[in-house]
Amino acid sequence: MDKIMVEGGRSLNGEVRISGSKNAALPILVSSLLVDGTCTFHNVPDLRDIKSILMLLSDLGAKIESQGTTVQINASGITKYEASYDLVRKMRASILVLGPLLARLKKAKVSLPGGCAIGERPVNFHLNGMARLGADIELKHGYIEASTNGLKGNEIYFDIPSVTGTENLMMAAVLADGTTVLRNAAREPEVCALADALSMMGAKIEGVGTSKITIEGVTSLQPLTCTIIPDRIEAGTFMVAAALTHGDIILNNCEPAHMENIIHKLKLTGAHVTTEGNAVRVQGNGIIESIDIKTLPFPGFPTDMQAQFMVLMSVANGLSVISETIFENRFIHVSELKRMGADITLSAGNVALVKGVKGISAAPVMASDLRASASLVLAGLVAKGTTEINRVYHLDRGYELIEDKFSKLGASIWRIKG
Ligand code: EPU
Repeated sequence: MDKIMVEGGRSLNGEVRISGSKNAALPILVSSLLVDGTCTFHNVPDLRDIKSILMLLSDLGAKIESQGTTVQINASGITKYEASYDLVRKMRASILVLGPLLARLKKAKVSLPGGCAIGERPVNFHLNGMARLGADIELKHGYIEASTNGLKGNEIYFDIPSVTGTENLMMAAVLADGTTVLRNAAREPEVCALADALSMMGAKIEGVGTSKITIEGVTSLQPLTCTIIPDRIEAGTFMVAAALTHGDIILNNCEPAHMENIIHKLKLTGAHVTTEGNAVRVQGNGIIESIDIKTLPFPGFPTDMQAQFMVLMSVANGLSVISETIFENRFIHVSELKRMGADITLSAGNVALVKGVKGISAAPVMASDLRASASLVLAGLVAKGTTEINRVYHLDRGYELIEDKFSKLGASIWRIKG
C-alpha cells in the first residue's frame, strides 16, 4: 500500500491546473449507455473512480478508448445488463448504470452498494423513483433486479435532494414515454453538467439548476462530444491549502461560479480571494479567523469541503462550530486531527466544536474516506514534522496527481510505493 509523506511548514505559491470533475465525469461517462455510436469526452480526470466506472462500462460491452484526458465510449453493442458486486463494491456511484440500463435494455441487475465509511447511504430514492417510472424492482441476494415493459414519465419527489438519485432518474426519464417532473431535485453543478450533456444528445430537459426538473421523453438520443467541467472540490482543496499555509496560489481552469459558497467562507476566514475568468487567486493572510460552517445541498456549503475547512479551523483564531447535515458519519478525520494536536470536540447532532490551536504536529495517520484523507494531507502541510498518510487508495480515487500538484506549489511531499 502506498503512503504519502508530507513535511510541514512551507508556504505554497504558484499556479495549479484544476482537473475535470470526478463527480460530473462519472454520470456523464455512464450516459453514453443511452446511445448508439461513439461519444467523446474531454478533460476526463485520471482517477481510480474513473477507471472503476470505465471497467464497469467495458464489462457491460461498451468499447472504450482513452488517450490522455480524452475518452471515447461506444455502447452500441451492449447486451449485458448486470453490474456485479465486485465492480459496484469498488465504487458506490456504479448505481448510476441502473437508470440508463433500464431505459436502454428495459432490464438491469445491479449489486446493492451497501454502506460506506461516511454513512449508511441508502439508495431508496433511486429505487422508488424507478418504480414511479414503471420499473418492477426486486431485491434478491444483494442485487437490485429491475425490469420494465417501457418506462413512463411521472412525478417524483425527493425527500432530500440527492445528487446521484437526480442523475439516475434523469437518465432513465430522457427515454421514457411522456413527461417526468423531478421535485426537490439536486441543484449541484455536476447534476447541471449531466443535464447539459443529455441535452446535447437531444434530450428535452427544463429547469436545470432549480429544484424542479422537467423531462420530456424522446425516442432516441445521439452521441455527443463534451468537455467535463472543472472539479470544484479539488479547486476548493487547493484554495484551503493557500489560506492554511499563508501562501499565494492561482488556480487555473476552474469555474468560480460553482464555488461561491467556498469562496464566501474562505474570505470570512481572512484570506484574500479574487477571480478572473476561469482563474481564482487565493492569498493567505497572517491570521486565520474562525468561522462556523454548516453543510447543505448546493448552493449551500458542500459536505465534500467540510473536512478541509476543519483543518483550517484547527489552526484558526477562536472557536468554530462545524455542523454536518448531509452524512451521519462524516467526521472520521476528527480523531486523526486530534492525534495531530487539534482541539476538536464532537457533540450531539453531528456538530464539531473546533478550538483553534497555535500549531499541530506530524503523526502517522489514515482515513477511509476520500475527503477525510485530503484533509490529512492539508494538515500535514502545516504540521511540525513529517506526516505519514496511509490508505492513499482513497486519495487516488478523487485527486489527480495530488503529490505532484502540491510539490510544484512548493510543498515537501512525496509518495512511498508499497
Ligand atoms: N439519500 C437517501 N436515499 C437515497 C439517496 C440519498 O436517504 O436513495 C440521502 C443520503 O444518505 C444523504 C443525502 O440523501 O444523507 C444526500 O446524498 P446524495 O444522494 O446527494 O449523495 P450521493 O449522490 O450518493 C454525491 C457525491 C458525493 C457527495 C454527495 C453530496 C457522487 C458520485 N458522489 O453522493 O461525493 O458527498 O453527493 O454532495 O456524485 C465524494 O466525492 O467524496 C463524495 C462522497
